[in-house]
Parts: sequence; C-alpha cells; structure tokens
Amino acid sequence: MKIFFFLLPILIHARFIYGTVGDTSEAGSPPDKVDIHPRIIGGTQISINNAPFIVGLTIRSGFSTEMCGGSIISSRYIVTAAHCIHGKAAGQISVRIGSSRFDSGGRVVGVRSIYVDNYKPNTVENDIAILELDSQISSSNDPNARAIPFGNGNPPSGSTCYTAGWGLTSNGGSSSSNLMRVQLNIWSTSSCRMVWGNISGSKQICALGDRLIGDLYKDSCAGDSGGPLYCTYNGEAALYGIVSYGPQECGSEGVPGVYTRPSYYESGIEQITGTLEISDIPVGPSVPDSSVSLKSTAAAITLIYYVLTIVF
Ligand code: ARG
Repeated sequence: MKIFFFLLPILIHARFIYGTVGDTSEAGSPPDKVDIHPRIIGGTQISINNAPFIVGLTIRSGFSTEMCGGSIISSRYIVTAAHCIHGKAAGQISVRIGSSRFDSGGRVVGVRSIYVDNYKPNTVENDIAILELDSQISSSNDPNARAIPFGNGNPPSGSTCYTAGWGLTSNGGSSSSNLMRVQLNIWSTSSCRMVWGNISGSKQICALGDRLIGDLYKDSCAGDSGGPLYCTYNGEAALYGIVSYGPQECGSEGVPGVYTRPSYYESGIEQITGTLEISDIPVGPSVPDSSVSLKSTAAAITLIYYVLTIVF
C-alpha cells in the first residue's frame, strides 16, 4: 500500500504534467470523443480593464511561437512562469500590454532581460521568472495597463479568486483571441498533495473552479501559463499565484491546477526590481482540509488495493 500511494502521485504527475506551453498543436493528445463543452475552461470573456495587470507573451523559436500570460508588477517588470521562457533569450519574447485581445491592441514591448533563479524543469519547482521590459509602462502610453501588488499567504475569506488568460478554452480546442476569466477555489496544501505528491505549501498554491458540466471543472489550461491567480477583497486585487501546471486534460475532476506563489520570492525579486508594492489585503487562514471526496476516493482505492492483495 505504501508503494502504491507513493507511486500514484508520480503516475498522475507523469501523465498530467506539461500541458504544453501553449503551442496548441502539442496541447495533449487528440480528444477521443467530440468535445461539445464550451469552456480559459468554463470562463467568461472580460475586458482588460477588469484585469489591467495581465499581459500576453509571445515566445518565438524558429518557425513556431508559443503563448503565455504574465502580470505587470511595476512600471518596468513582468512576472511570468519560468517554464514559459526556459531556454529562451530575451529577444525571442514580446509582451502585449493593455489589450483584451491577444493579437491586437494595446502596445507591444520587447524584453531587455530575463531573471530566473533555480527553476527545476523536471519537478517544475520555482516556476517563476521576471522579465525586464525595454520600455517603461506609463499611464499616458498605456491607459489600460496597471501593476498588481503581491498578496501575502492565502487570500482571506470573503475574497474572490480568479485566473485569466488567452489559453485553450477546451481540451483539444484552440486558444482564445479574447481575454477569458474564470473563478477558482483555493485548495489546501494537503488536499493538493494527495493529487500531485510533492507540493510546497509555501511556494505553491493549488486551485480549481466549480463544476462546469458533467465531470468537467473550471480551470486554466495550456497557454494560460505564467498568467495570474489573483484575488479581490474589498475591491482590491492582489497576485496570489502564477499559472504553473495542471492536468493535461484541463478541468479534470478532483485535479487542481498548481500555481507558484510570488510572495515566497518577493525579497529575491525586489533585489532585481527595487521595492514593490505589497497588497494590504490581510493574510487569510490556511484553507481547511475539506476535500472529502478526494479522501473517500483515496480510501476506496486503498480498499480495492487491499481486496486485490488478499484475492491474488
Ligand atoms: N502548463 C500550462 C501552460 O504552459 C498551464 C497548464 C495549466 N493547466 C491546468 N489544467 N490548470 O500553459
């Protein structure tokens, strides 16, 4: 049983990890049945003014381009996922700021430098990167762009959390030209560990939305990587996570997305960017471990395993 439980997360991990960085041609295997669900997954279209800190990243390599999201953290810096730009040079990346559309509007700026520290591609640890823009964001040039402060710890109860981006809107489908947003529920670290194994409670935060239809849940998907998990509280927004990885079949029941917590890296980031604005949203309690269905699933698997062990 020990071995089984040790292996289970690894198997899940191996199967689910690396929903591609948004090259939609590689986004998982083709669907085995026609996909009728409207699905970010299950999101609604929003204007950039609802989330003016979101930027669209285009990463060019050879003939292919990949897409990711990012968040403005100051007039000169963007935070995104390290896996989006891993092995890439600053010159391959462009950033569209202040637009609801991925491929038009707003302003496109280049990247001067990339900062990544200790990103581990095999385990997707420290999946966070800072991009220094080659042009300053200003309210006069970029009326629809604004920085978002880092949130601390978990969002307080009474806050509403979202992720947003231009990624796939259905499994096996295509990315969205219009910015989409979906509401998410934060998971406890222990519930998340039951699915993904090695999750760091201080460096990562897990979340999944409500049920959309059938066994499909609201979620981020390939192409949303690097974009924000943000929460609003009393009309203020703060950044609590960066889209890192999730199940290859986005929105899989019982499988949350994993997001990097930028607050963990704050002092390191400030050495690059200078002092950042930090949100005054109070720190919430850790999420109660309420994932009853997961536990009963785990219990059921254990039981079946015992039965099999006895029978054979
Ligand atoms: N790694 C993906 C990307 O590069 C993000 C996957 C998020 N997936 C999920 N099911 N939440 O775009």
